[in-house]
Amino acid sequence: MNILAIDTSCDDTSVAITRDNVILANVISSQVALHKEWGGVVPIIAKRAHQEQINSIIQKAVKHAKVPLSSIEVFAVTQGPGLAIALEVGIAKAKELANIYNKPLVAVNHMEGHLYANFAESRSGKKQNIQFPALVLLVSGGHSDLLIMRDHGQYEKLGEKLDDAVGEAFDKVARMLGLGYPGGALLAKMAENGDSSIYKFPVPLHQVKDFNLSYSGLKAAIQRLVKEKTANDHALTQQDISNISASFQRVAIHHLIERVERALQIYKVKNVMLGGGVSANLLLRKNLRNLTKKYRVEFFYPKDKKLCMDNAAMIAVAAWYKAKRGEFAQNFDRNPGMGIGD
Ligand code: KG4
Ligand code: ZN
Repeated sequence: MNILAIDTSCDDTSVAITRDNVILANVISSQVALHKEWGGVVPIIAKRAHQEQINSIIQKAVKHAKVPLSSIEVFAVTQGPGLAIALEVGIAKAKELANIYNKPLVAVNHMEGHLYANFAESRSGKKQNIQFPALVLLVSGGHSDLLIMRDHGQYEKLGEKLDDAVGEAFDKVARMLGLGYPGGALLAKMAENGDSSIYKFPVPLHQVKDFNLSYSGLKAAIQRLVKEKTANDHALTQQDISNISASFQRVAIHHLIERVERALQIYKVKNVMLGGGVSANLLLRKNLRNLTKKYRVEFFYPKDKKLCMDNAAMIAVAAWYKAKRGEFAQNFDRNPGMGIGD
């Protein structure tokens, strides 16, 4: 089944073409340069850039995949969660294409897409042997979710963000440290040269025996520390920035690991699956690798860096599984607050 998928949920315009779950093209046009000077994503700028880019990105994907639009059998698009006016652009384009070529449409949850990045197959046939039930940790710039996946499309939510999402906390702390936007990866890089034992921050919700995630307290603690250290016009040294980054990252990741470990103690699962932009974080991967070894379950994460970040291939792969179940949607609207497993 030839699938063309579009994702315009935030600040990347992406179009992918897959044959079933095999990625033939995954084109991403980043808007980072446009939003950088504002220190974060400006919705109206994102919308305009999506509108300007979408047709040329579709053409690029078609050229790369060597599959003409007339051979696409299913069109897919991200319905939510994301920025309302940005989502709109992709949805309008997918509806237009489905209408012109008289083909069905699949509406995909962006976070489900991040999960399905794990089910993508490369052209060379590389894929992950995922079995159910699986414990799924989704960590992005807007969301944190811990789920049990019982089968394709069947989720049970264990926990979610109570305030800031993990990636959002990385970005906000990076900003406090003057590391720029988007800051998560830059902070992780700075942390490599830091001593994570210098500053001791409490692990969020350590005493709360559930699966929810909270980062606002940790973020506020870093803010107080930075304020203290920069009082009387003192500037942070590179070493200060590295040490604060490392100390923050250690606790931020530890919070996730505590939640996953608790779930592994309670639920019998065959593996742990990671998805979302923060899945690129090496400390998170390393700690999850060790934890899953301890509990003798397999650990999966999207092996290609491009599949960790926002991209349309993950939407196409999720759409393939939905199309096989006949889950088509002709009439749907953007859903900026769309949840998964609720
Ligand atoms: O999934 P994603 O590309 O977009 C959303 O759906 O939000 O995730 C982006 C988030 C950003 O907050 C970014 O700072 C974070 O992922 N991120 C990282 C790393 N690379 C990206 N956070 C921690 N460590 C990283 N290496
Ligand atoms: Zn995302």
